[in-house]
Amino acid sequence: MEQLLQQIELYKQEIAAAEATNADMVEAFRIKYLGTKGLVKSVMGEMKNVPNDQKKAFGQILNDFKLFAENKFEILKQSIDDSQQSTANSIDLSLPGSPVSVGTRHPLSIVRNQIVSIFKRLGFAVSEGPEIEDDWHNFGAMNLPEDHPARDMQDTFYISQNPAWLLRTHTSSVQARVMEHQKPPIRVICPGRVYRNETISARAHCFFHQVEGLYIDENVSFADLKQTLYFFVQEMFGKEVKVRFRPSYFPFTEPSAEMDISCLICDSKGCNVCKHTGWVEILGSGMVHPKVLENFGIDSNKYTGFAFGMGVERICQLKYQVNDLRLYSQNDVRFLKQFTGAI
Ligand code: DAH
Repeated sequence: MEQLLQQIELYKQEIAAAEATNADMVEAFRIKYLGTKGLVKSVMGEMKNVPNDQKKAFGQILNDFKLFAENKFEILKQSIDDSQQSTANSIDLSLPGSPVSVGTRHPLSIVRNQIVSIFKRLGFAVSEGPEIEDDWHNFGAMNLPEDHPARDMQDTFYISQNPAWLLRTHTSSVQARVMEHQKPPIRVICPGRVYRNETISARAHCFFHQVEGLYIDENVSFADLKQTLYFFVQEMFGKEVKVRFRPSYFPFTEPSAEMDISCLICDSKGCNVCKHTGWVEILGSGMVHPKVLENFGIDSNKYTGFAFGMGVERICQLKYQVNDLRLYSQNDVRFLKQFTGAI
């Protein structure tokens, strides 16, 4: 009997020390002490071995033990319920969510992607070249030998002289890189950043973006050039836009032409952007000079080609009415945010 009393005492200590941090632990406690095969039941079973004269007193002890375990079970259960309640209370589902600010594509990227996708539909592939160039790819190969006055047209950032390394002044250098590795037919566009030593203002910057185009095959004519570029502007700006070609000079094309489109800012009525002419220049173009083809071993009697180079900033200005070139690189989110809807 003494032994049983000691055992009950030990169980009570165990019960008093029991803890539960989740519902599974509460259930494990219930099974261990209060379940059908639990310790309370098995201690109760000892009653039959208790002498009759002690049964009453012993019954009392067993009953207390049972209540003690049940009580603890209730306490554990309650503590779990409370803690669940308090986590639920600490989340206020009516609060507004914390905003995730999503960036936007840069307007120049948007416009470059549009240009690329229009020419892709015409079967042009995309080629890119390095921004740090040697003199040959930027000038020599494009028919601008040293001391050629046309080099003065572009104020160059030189990285080194002899050998001359420079920041490319135009994406025409990528034409040279493509012709080096590919044989006609060639049909590529080359988007990229170019650099010129200009004083930064609303109208000029020391870097800007171009998309170059090059198409070389048998029987490519000036009519192909005109129709391709006309298709491009109509896709880019809509069917209403007008184009005109003005004779021009570039060392790497002959004949050469600059292409203007009707001013979309003022509807050709005359404004600052079109300098009151109703026309805005968007690109230079021409038939690839035979010298350039020969520089890369392309037979200029068999093959002809056209090329063009357009300014992405200018196209962007006409499309989105951005009138200060500096905005593109100032990282002012008030400007950049305005392109949220454009993809
Ligand atoms: N590279 C010229 C520039 O930066 C633009 C240009 C004119 C590119 C005529 C061409 C071209 O491919 O045929 O001003």
